[in-house]
Amino acid sequence: MYALANKRILVTGGAGFIGCNFLRYILVRHPQVRAVNFDALTYAGSLSSLKDLCDDDRYTFIRGDISDAALVRKTLEEHEIDTIVNFAAESHVDRSITGPAAFIQTNIVGTFTLLEAAREAWAGRFESCRFLHVSTDEVYGTLGPTDHPFRETTPYAPNSPYSASKASADHLVRAYHETYGLPVVTTNCSNNYGPYQYPEKLIPLMIINSLTGKSLPVYGDGLQVRDWLYVEDHCAAVHAVLQEGRLGQTYNIGGLNEKKNIEIVHIICNMLDELRPKPGGSSYKQQITHVKDRPGHDRRYAIDAGKLRSELGWTPQESFETGIRKTIQWYLANQDWVNSVMSENYDQWIALNYANREEVTGA
Ligand code: NAD
Ligand code: DAU
Repeated sequence: MYALANKRILVTGGAGFIGCNFLRYILVRHPQVRAVNFDALTYAGSLSSLKDLCDDDRYTFIRGDISDAALVRKTLEEHEIDTIVNFAAESHVDRSITGPAAFIQTNIVGTFTLLEAAREAWAGRFESCRFLHVSTDEVYGTLGPTDHPFRETTPYAPNSPYSASKASADHLVRAYHETYGLPVVTTNCSNNYGPYQYPEKLIPLMIINSLTGKSLPVYGDGLQVRDWLYVEDHCAAVHAVLQEGRLGQTYNIGGLNEKKNIEIVHIICNMLDELRPKPGGSSYKQQITHVKDRPGHDRRYAIDAGKLRSELGWTPQESFETGIRKTIQWYLANQDWVNSVMSENYDQWIALNYANREEVTGA
């Protein structure tokens, strides 16, 4: 067991959706841990997601790019980092289609830079260090309707620049273990949802567009399937793998919760009809439009998390029904956060991504 008590953890991408939830998760559970949040604050990162941690003297923020070798090296040394959890990434599939370069730079070169810096800083003491690389189920490509969910042994077959860049990083992480013995573990997780998710992703986008009277743009027929996991369950899984995962191994993380996109949108509309009814009494479902599909759109993701369950005893705690209710209530109660992250960049992105998606006939 790799006990986290007294560890000095570098959380990269800690100002993003999952990273900020993870920082809270570990600081609450490990009073002696010191955590450094290393984040470039791209459009997707916001310190407003971490206001409650500002006064915690166990927490430090460093603005930096994971592909800046000198700064990464200096940070590992000055903060005596023995544990790295790498969340930092360009994470949005649609953005990887319109602009893949940043994905190559951050997801591949950035991960490589972290690995090299860790190899150098931890020389001679690998046994007291850990590098956990956070990855995605998208590296496995797409499933047919009756295929068995992705296992850790499923061959990699990424279909988007995003998933290809994550796959490439995963291979580098694996190679650093095989070649240099670097103490790494990798997790491949399904779609997360919950508080602090940037409103470019399906669930927060649908909530925000509903409330602002905009259309709810469902790609293609909306019958694509994703396996949704509440973000805190993902944090619990990463925490378990960090402490008890076998070195050099990968662990799939999933919600046991396959749903079609159109079902998700209907659930959100129904819940908003209840929690924030429209003045005229009509349903938010009337805002749904089917639009031109995402190129290379993976049809179905599903995770077999049997290895994580049998080796580490992890299972998701949140049901989708309770998790989505909590999430919608959080967005309703945190309009200030939403406004703070929806900058000019956000408007430009929405204009670019949805401009050429003319309405199509739905399912
Ligand atoms: P996010 O886009 O919300 O946050 C990414 C964070 O990384 C931001 O704070 C951003 O500022 C930071 N960042 C980007 N480039 C950087 C760089 N060069 N240097 C330092 N920081 C940089 O992403 P997320 O949804 O929180 O995802 C976190 C990780 O989890 C990613 O690696 C992603 O691939 C993986 N993942 C996400 C999901 C999901 O459903 N969101 C599922 C499985 C895996
Ligand atoms: O599977 C894990 C991955 O999940 C993570 O690795 C990624 O970082 C994360 O972004 C997510 O990728 P997806 O592409 O599955 O998530 P997104 O929220 O962008 O889309 C979910 C589904 O909803 C997908 O089938 C596309 C569809 N969609 C999305 C948007 C933004 C729509 O129909 N309309 C939309 O406007």
